[in-house]
Amino acid sequence: MSYYPVNIEEIQLKVAKKRIKKYTPPTYSIFDEPSNVKEIQNSFGEKLVRVDGTIPVDLPIENGQRFLFISYDQSRFSHGIHKYPAKFFPELPRWLIQRYSKPNEWVLEPFMGSATTNIECLLHNRNSVGIDIDPFARFLAKVKTTPLNLDELNQTNQFILEQITFFQPILIKNEQIPQFPYRDNWFRVEILKELTYIKHLIENLSVNEHLKDFYKICFSSIIRNVSNADDNCTRTVIRKKLNKQVYPSLALTKFAENLLIFSQRITEFSENVTNSFLEISHDSDARNIKYSNNTFDLAVTSPPYGNAVDYPRTHQLEMYWLDIVNGSLTELKKQHIGTESVSATFYKNYIR
Ligand SMILES: C[S@@+](CC[C@H](N)C(=O)[O-])C[C@H]1O[C@@H](n2cnc3c(N)ncnc32)[C@H](O)[C@@H]1O
Repeated sequence: MSYYPVNIEEIQLKVAKKRIKKYTPPTYSIFDEPSNVKEIQNSFGEKLVRVDGTIPVDLPIENGQRFLFISYDQSRFSHGIHKYPAKFFPELPRWLIQRYSKPNEWVLEPFMGSATTNIECLLHNRNSVGIDIDPFARFLAKVKTTPLNLDELNQTNQFILEQITFFQPILIKNEQIPQFPYRDNWFRVEILKELTYIKHLIENLSVNEHLKDFYKICFSSIIRNVSNADDNCTRTVIRKKLNKQVYPSLALTKFAENLLIFSQRITEFSENVTNSFLEISHDSDARNIKYSNNTFDLAVTSPPYGNAVDYPRTHQLEMYWLDIVNGSLTELKKQHIGTESVSATFYKNYIR
């Protein structure tokens, strides 16, 4: 039985339905929403202040008070493009930025991750600098904070979706499939061919670099799903029993789906972005920032915690396919704060 070609109309319908089900257009603007704040009691009888949605800038805070924030905006704008472990919920940096800085001031995010703070800065007319040691984070952040030309986006989407329907496994020779460690354990051969086809399709597009990078992130977002690795574990691991179904055509279908969903999100971002400035710093270690004193008016961040998330291992398959790394992750891991990979010599010198 042949699983090809992929049915694009069916995918478009599915995405449109999801949008109706999940995305109810807000009756307020996030810029002036009157948030819902009320005092509640949890099941232990403790008092909490519950805030639904955007946190009011002047929310009164008393010593010892506890809050329950309910977030509604995790998929809005470009926030919902690609997974990233231990992300901020957007309402939190939005509130901090508005409460503690003024329009046109400068905000530092020294552990930028997927750029939640920087996206909110761009939406609220604050300039910002984002720093992250991780090359995958910097690439994802760049895509999520770059507005696109929407006519070009929609035209290129049509072209890509059409090209997807032309896929046949025979079009990809084994020698064309990229090489990386344990490749054939991580992926089935049919999926390797589909991924190689999509990768080449993106590389050969005659569009500007920003749009190409947007498609690379759509591509990256399906890699874990279509691999043999567990989807529910932050780390990339293979379980004895695969807890999902991976079958021919899955990579093409997922890519088409995510391309349509992420296009809606980058469109909403592109339509609302202000002219404020963002720099994703090459100076990428937060322990060694070279900006002079008084450059920043505010710093908003959530730092990495010891041994909590192994970011290089989490994104290893995505980084192989995006040509960000192609071998050992050890050097990259060593630079991360909170890493579990410390050499014996480093440790000996450190405790001396
Ligand atoms: C908890 S995450 C931040 C998530 C971010 N708030 C978001 O919303 O996506 C911590 C980040 O710190 C980064 N990191 C770890 N060590 C670093 C270092 N030495 N310098 C800069 N960033 C580092 C990690 O790559 C990770 O992206």
